Amino acid sequence: MNAPHTPTDMSHLWMPFTANRQFKAHPRMLASAKGMYYTSLDGRQILDGTSGLWCVNAGHCREEITEAISRQAGIMDYAPGFQLGHPLAFQAATAVAELMPQGLDRIFFTNSGSESVDTALKIALAYHRARGEGQRTRLIGRERGYHGVGFGGISVGGISPNRKIFSGALLPAIDHLPHTHNLEQNAFSKGQPNWGAHLAEELERILALHDPSTVAAVIVEPMAGSTGVLVPPKGYLEKLREITSKHGILLIFDEVITGYGRVGAATASEFFGVTPDLITMAKGISNAAVPCGAVAVRRDVHDAIVESGPAGIEFFHGYTYSAHPMACAAVLATLDIYRRDNLFARARELAPAFEKAAHGLKGTQHVIDVRNIGLVAGVELSPRAGAPGARAAEAFQRCFDTGLMVRYTGDTLAVSPPLIIDEKQIEQIFQTIGSVLKEIA
Ligand SMILES: Cc1ncc(COP(=O)(O)O)c(C=O)c1O
Repeated sequence: MNAPHTPTDMSHLWMPFTANRQFKAHPRMLASAKGMYYTSLDGRQILDGTSGLWCVNAGHCREEITEAISRQAGIMDYAPGFQLGHPLAFQAATAVAELMPQGLDRIFFTNSGSESVDTALKIALAYHRARGEGQRTRLIGRERGYHGVGFGGISVGGISPNRKIFSGALLPAIDHLPHTHNLEQNAFSKGQPNWGAHLAEELERILALHDPSTVAAVIVEPMAGSTGVLVPPKGYLEKLREITSKHGILLIFDEVITGYGRVGAATASEFFGVTPDLITMAKGISNAAVPCGAVAVRRDVHDAIVESGPAGIEFFHGYTYSAHPMACAAVLATLDIYRRDNLFARARELAPAFEKAAHGLKGTQHVIDVRNIGLVAGVELSPRAGAPGARAAEAFQRCFDTGLMVRYTGDTLAVSPPLIIDEKQIEQIFQTIGSVLKEIA
C-alpha cells in the first residue's frame, strides 16, 4: 500500500538514473531530514549512510546554512553573473580558494559536477590555445571513471551504460587509461592498495601513440567513487603527476566526491599529497543545500587565458546560475561549519574505526572485497549467476526497509556517511549491512 502522502499520479516525473517502472510500483519516498537521519514518508527514521548522494557532508538541514539561504533569498534572489557581480560571489570564491592546494586559487563557479567537468575540459583546451599550442586537443580519462553526464563528461568517463546509447556523439580525440580494480591483487586492502602504481605508466603508451604534443589533459577521480569506490594504488597518482608534468599536459582531479572532507582532508589532492592543475568540485561545497559546483584552477593557467588575451571577454563560457547568490550563501555557511567543527579532521580521526567496522564484513556471505579510505567504503558482493547487480540491489532495498540508506553500483555497496557520524552509528551501518547479507540469497 502507498504511504499516506505518496502522490496518486507519479507518471509525470521522469526520474534520473532510476528504474522508473520498478520505483513507481514500489516507491521509496523521503519526507524530511535532520542531522544523520532521513524520515521516510511512512514515518521511519533512516540512517543516512551515503550523505544523500555523497554530498551532505555536514549532515542534514544545518540551521546556519538554512538561515543563510533564506536570508539571501530575501535580500537578493538572483544576480546575473555575466558582466555584473555581487559581493558574495567573490567571498565564496575566496573561501573556496583557501581550502584548495596552494596555487589553485582561481575559482570558476558552476551548478553541478557535470558542469564543473565540462568547464575544466574547456579550460584545458583554452589554456593550450592561449599559449600557442592549440594542437593539444586530446583528452584522456580512465575506464570506470565517472565525470557526470555532459557530453564532455561521458566522453572522458568510462562507465559503459552511460556511454553506449550516445557512442556516436561522443567527443573525438579521447583515450582512456585502464582502471585500477583488481580483486586478485588487492581484495580487502585497507586504505591504498599496494599493487597497481604501474597502471599509470599506460599513459606513456597512449602518449607515444598520439605524440604528447597533441594531448591537452588527463582527468581522473583521485578516488573513483561512483563506479564502486576504487582507492588509488600507492604511487599511482604520483606517477600520473610525474608523466603529465613531463609532457606539459594538464592534470585534472575530479573531486566532486572526494572534495570537502570525504577522505579526511579538504581535498584528496591534499590527502594524497599530489597536486593537480585543476580540481573539479560540487556536492559538499554547499552541503547540497543549493546546487553548486566549481573548478579551482592553477593561477598561471587562469592567467594564460585571462591576462594575456586582447581586451574583452576572455573565456566564452558560463552559466546563468554561476555563483547564484543563494548558492554562494550556502557555500559560505557550509565552509564555516566545516572549519568551526573541524569536520575534515573528524573524518580523518574516525577513519580507523570506520575501516575496522567495514572490514568486519570480511567473511560474511557474498562479500568478496571491502575497500576503504577516509569515510568511504565499498563492499563488493559476488554477483548472482546470470543477474549481475541483483544481489546488491536487493541488499540496498533491504537496508532501506531496515532503516539504513546505502548506495549500490553493479554489485558493490557504497557507504559514505556525513562527517558528523559517531562511532555507534558507524557500527550500526556495517552491522545492518552484515545482517542483511546473511538474510539474502
Ligand atoms: C566524480 C564525479 N564527477 C562528476 C559528477 C557529476 O556531478 P553532478 O551529478 O552534480 O552533475 C559526479 C557525481 O556523482 C562525480 O562523482
